Formats: sequence, structure tokens, C-alpha cells
Amino acid sequence: MKIVFATNNKHKVKEIKDLLPSGIQVMTLDEIGCNEEIEETAATLEGNAKIKSDHVKEEYGYDCFADDTGLEVEVLEGAPGVYSARYAGENATFEENVNKLLDALEGQSNRKARFRTVISLNINGEQQYFEGVCNGEIELSAKGSQGFGYDPVFKPDGYDQTFAEMDLSTKGRISHRGRAVQKLVEFLKKKA
Ligand code: IMP
Repeated sequence: MKIVFATNNKHKVKEIKDLLPSGIQVMTLDEIGCNEEIEETAATLEGNAKIKSDHVKEEYGYDCFADDTGLEVEVLEGAPGVYSARYAGENATFEENVNKLLDALEGQSNRKARFRTVISLNINGEQQYFEGVCNGEIELSAKGSQGFGYDPVFKPDGYDQTFAEMDLSTKGRISHRGRAVQKLVEFLKKKA
């Protein structure tokens, strides 16, 4: 079985290749010659993931899956959510986004947050979604240097380290994306 993962993020591709049986071949956007920017214009994670998987199916003919992730903070009513990558502006750095979040939570005692990943799969004309959630809280300041994005300020429930202080395999096991990917893998194994 050949399937496209609508990303060029090498870390994400490795993570999923390690989990899939060898009979399922995963290709990236680069590998199918898809170099155009796929605009994520939806207001939900589900919508943005579907835009990407549909684009590949419609323009290139391959079965495809795509992911979208957001950090949802309780007292901010789910913000930054689907806008997590551009919370502090269109081309914001991870550090700018983290600083804006820490400012928004200044003086707040409720620091509950969750990461949520949605994977959209477009296969044999069928639409499927897989969700992975990781609950935790936002620290008072950044800690650790691993990972990316909001990792330095996100401490998952049940752990006393932030994602940025953990090794990648621990994060992969408990993270939002890891959980969504595990559900996708179980589904694909039944199809292969
Ligand atoms: P994407 O949908 O995977 O591109 O994620 C959108 C944004 O959410 C990223 O730009 C990051 O700011 C944030 N994000 C996604 N996954 C993670 C994660 O595992 N740790 C920290 N931040 C993340």
C-alpha cells in the first residue's frame, strides 16, 4: 500500500514510519512533486487537516493523510487553538508565540491546557478522522531545549518535566500526535 503523508516535516515522517508495518509505504509531499503551499484556511483542526488530504487526493490521485495540531488553553477559551503557529503574528517565531502565551496567562492560577491533534485520512474515497489529546498545564516560564513550539512551557499531567525536558521517545508515547498516529496506524494495519 502506498500512501502520502501531507507534510515535509522529517521528524513527523520518521515517527510514523517507525510505527507502520513495512508493507505500507509512506511518501512525503516532496516525493510526489507537490511543492505548492497548501493554504490552511479552515477555522478548525479537522477542516485544515482535510484541506491538505483532499488536495493531494484531488491533484495527485494518491490516498493521503494529513495532521493539524493546536494548543487549547482553558482560561483562554481554547486559544490559540487552530491559530497556534501564528498566535503572535503571521510569521511569528516559537519564542514569540511562547512569550505571548506567558503574557496572556500572567497572574492566572488556572493554567490548564491541552494539545489536540487531528489526522484526516482520505483513502479509497472514504473520509476518516483520528484524534489525539494530551492534557497538561502551562508553566510560569520556559524550561528545556528539546522539541519545538510550545514544548518548553507545556508540562503534561502526571509528569514533572516539560515536553522540552523529555527525551523524544517519551514525548512520542504520550503526546497528542503520538496518540493520533497510533489510532491511524491501527486503522491502516487492518486495510493493508
Ligand atoms: P502543526 O499543525 O503540527 O503544524 O502545529 C501547529 C503549531 O502548533 C506549531 O507551529 C506549534 O506551535 C504547535 N505545536 C504542534 N505540535 C506541537 C508539539 O508537539 N509541541 C509544541 N508545540 C506544538
